[in-house]
Amino acid sequence: MPDTTPAPAPVPFVDIPGQIRRLRPQLDERIRRVLDHGQFILGPEVRELEDALAAYVGGGHVVTTGSGHDAILLALMAEGIGPGDAVFVPAFTFVSTAEAVLAVGAAPIFVDVDERTFTMDPADLERRIAGVRRAGTWTPRAVMPVDIFGLPADYAGLGAVAEASGLFLLSDAAQSFGATVGNRRVGRLAPATMTSFFPAKPLGGAGDGGALFTEDSERAATYRRLRVHGLDAHGECLSVGMTGRLDTLQAAILLVKLAAFPDDLARREAAARRYDQTLARAVMVPHRPAGHSSAWALYTILSEKRDAIRAALAAERIPSRSYYEQALHLHAAFRASSEGPGSLPVTERLGRLNLSLPMHSELDAATVDRIAAIVVAAAA
Ligand SMILES: Cc1ncc(COP(=O)(O)O)c(C=O)c1O
Repeated sequence: MPDTTPAPAPVPFVDIPGQIRRLRPQLDERIRRVLDHGQFILGPEVRELEDALAAYVGGGHVVTTGSGHDAILLALMAEGIGPGDAVFVPAFTFVSTAEAVLAVGAAPIFVDVDERTFTMDPADLERRIAGVRRAGTWTPRAVMPVDIFGLPADYAGLGAVAEASGLFLLSDAAQSFGATVGNRRVGRLAPATMTSFFPAKPLGGAGDGGALFTEDSERAATYRRLRVHGLDAHGECLSVGMTGRLDTLQAAILLVKLAAFPDDLARREAAARRYDQTLARAVMVPHRPAGHSSAWALYTILSEKRDAIRAALAAERIPSRSYYEQALHLHAAFRASSEGPGSLPVTERLGRLNLSLPMHSELDAATVDRIAAIVVAAAA
């Protein structure tokens, strides 16, 4: 007798088409309205989205941008950070974080991360600041932690070190929009916050997009000016800026996604807790410090059996990914300010052990259980 059991449906790592199907009628309506009014650059949906994002985070100013990377560049340019300056960043992150620092002419100085949260370690930050001051090559100017995989960094600890050292604190929250610390949302945890609406992010668009968040109205005005070539209200270029605007069509799509976002985040949180229940006895599951919630850009485990787990999942056609195996201090572009292999032991260890499992708003309990059972068996 041939085996007629249907093969399980392929499991997507991130199910963007599934979410689009669910929201399709609202998306179609919003897109139709933009095509009708035709204001494709800085149309009314852009300000509507900025207001809606500010309301979501509970206040402050929001300036949308063409991408998360543009948001980081604009934030650094607005502080006047440039040649001769040092910006402290983790190496356990996407290349954009340090690349933006280099793009404004400053030096990215790599700081190790905490082994449980994978975010910047305040004690190591202190050591690295002292090291840069001693060497005298660069002037410490800013600290840019990253909310890696969706978990906010230790802003209390890092903020205290930054303040004591006279450094500006910027938050690379590209992966964490929607996460919280206590009753404060990402966007209000640092003087300047940058996020990304890349399609696979927790709040993802249908293309590139990003946003800047700040409580300071002057800073927000500078972001708006730099976003359009440094032009003031009279059309005079006051300083170098860029084309860094979010498209109106993208804003319209994000307005629909933002309305669904609280429900999407709850779905991600439910999937994460369900993974935790089965996996905690077999591997290290994602740690959330007291009072911190994650936006679950990724659900990432650590295991010495990482490669066996990845192979077992692949045999069942379940995708999984290891991030930042080549951490940023090992990339050619950052050689001038990197201390090279061995200089960030926790970062390098995490690169060898981490594995991200499928995580998205469409993930159902049965699929989580199936994936978790394969991981537990392979980790045994
Ligand atoms: C940590 C981090 N920083 C910056 C970025 C850049 O965002 P974008 O791809 O929207 O330019 C990303 C996203 O990919 C990211 O994960």
